[in-house]
Amino acid sequence: MSRAQTLDSGQPDSPIVVLDMGSQYAHLIVRKIRELKVYAELLPHNITAKKLAKHTPRGIILSGGPASVYAPGSPTIDPKILMEGTPVLGICYGYQLMAQILGGRVQKTDKREYGATTIHIDDSTNILLGLAPQEKVWMSHGDKVITLPPSFKALAHTDSTPLAAAANSASSLYGLQFHPEVAHTPRGNQILHNFIYGICKAQPNWSLTGFIEQKTSELRNTLGHDKVLCALSGGVDSSVTAALINRAIGDNLTCIFVDHGLLRKGEAEQVDAVFQHRLGINLIHVEAKDRFLKRLEHASNAEAKRRAIGREFIRVFEEEASKLGGICWLAQGTLYPDVIESAGTTGPASRIKTHHNVGGLPRKMRLKLVEPLRLLYKDEVRQMGRLLGLPEEIVTRHPFPGPGLAVRIMGKVTPDKLLISREASAIVEEELKRSGLYDSVWQAFAVVGDDKWVGVKGDERSLGYVVTIRLVQSLDAMTADWVLVPRDVADSMSNRITNEVPGVAMVAIAISSKPPSTIEPC
Ligand code: XMP
Repeated sequence: MSRAQTLDSGQPDSPIVVLDMGSQYAHLIVRKIRELKVYAELLPHNITAKKLAKHTPRGIILSGGPASVYAPGSPTIDPKILMEGTPVLGICYGYQLMAQILGGRVQKTDKREYGATTIHIDDSTNILLGLAPQEKVWMSHGDKVITLPPSFKALAHTDSTPLAAAANSASSLYGLQFHPEVAHTPRGNQILHNFIYGICKAQPNWSLTGFIEQKTSELRNTLGHDKVLCALSGGVDSSVTAALINRAIGDNLTCIFVDHGLLRKGEAEQVDAVFQHRLGINLIHVEAKDRFLKRLEHASNAEAKRRAIGREFIRVFEEEASKLGGICWLAQGTLYPDVIESAGTTGPASRIKTHHNVGGLPRKMRLKLVEPLRLLYKDEVRQMGRLLGLPEEIVTRHPFPGPGLAVRIMGKVTPDKLLISREASAIVEEELKRSGLYDSVWQAFAVVGDDKWVGVKGDERSLGYVVTIRLVQSLDAMTADWVLVPRDVADSMSNRITNEVPGVAMVAIAISSKPPSTIEPC
């Protein structure tokens, strides 16, 4: 699929461009700026000044990064980017790099400075406008700028970092040793606001309502009377994709929902209720449980299960599509982080691949791809779902893997293990909702394998399955922390699972983060 065939424009002009120097916070900077109502995008650090100019940036931010500017092969930028008059803000590594390129000096610190620090503001104009004489900021660095480039002026210091912020305001170049984008820098938004509005003179013209209008008319123009197919999974990305395209082209969109029997409790019914009955979208509900379970009969390792499900999914989907005929486009809910990642990553940070559920479809079916969410982040997609009238249960539902419960069942997928993982996961979700914790958790589910435990009920002893509860917090699933729920919530989960789900004798809680463990068990 060539980029030219992909419908992905709709990009507002004059964005703030963030150059990715390898920081885990690079996407966060982009999101923060969009929250401030200015469109921002992430580009690779090694883009040439000429190519960058084609994006007509209103301002440029050099992100932080884990490297040292003086280490051989460390990420750098085309120096012309600093000399063309476009305002540039360097953050942490980005500041050090800017200083080094322009003739300043950077040196290793005696002690790595990490965590909350108090900064003393020496000049509260331009980039630090509106800040108090002392502010809390978040530092995370092992190097610091020790000599400023010519024409730069120090703006702030900490006890151990004399040049914690600096500027050459005549050339619109600014540097911060700390991270304004993280929540631990409470006035960070003010600093970003100063940069994008005060210095770059951006207009607050990025809003999801505006994006919906613009995307709708763009979809209408591009798709015309063409027929579009969307693989609807019930997850937030495909749901919002379907709702948006339906808004643009109505009946020319058909959604195919394949019930492979590995869905969460109540999910299939919910998809019918919302899409068919409430939104009036053309929906083909394919009942394919038996076909999928048959394919899974002999698959016990994770990759074999994924392959079996992926292939069967494509088969089912193709059968349904060929019954319809005349389809030109396949709609997919690809999001911005996936786009960045498939483009080979913008930055030097190595990232773990995400999983693309319907990746084989467009190639095999010779369909053009329409991906209306490819500029958006998950939180923006959720917000858009609300604006398009999707119910809160869909908009806020935790992410769910394409191969569904098959990757939450270790070993072979059998009817009893399937029932256990579905029912136990539903209990975990219900108890989280009851205790008001559901939205503060990234994913929460119950896993079952072949391990057994002796259970006692009255005088009876019998072997039952071990169910493991997995609760994680994450920003993007690349890394995740395990979550400890209060004892009474864990107790209710455990009691309900052993009492209500047949064949369970023990409930355990997974207490490993990612890394070293993945989120799903297989
Ligand atoms: P892991 O287990 O790799 O999961 O830490 C990271 C994120 O990806 C989801 N996941 C999948 N999603 N197909 C998908 O569509 C898959 O095969 C798959 N495996 C894991 C997982 O739920 C988590 O959000």
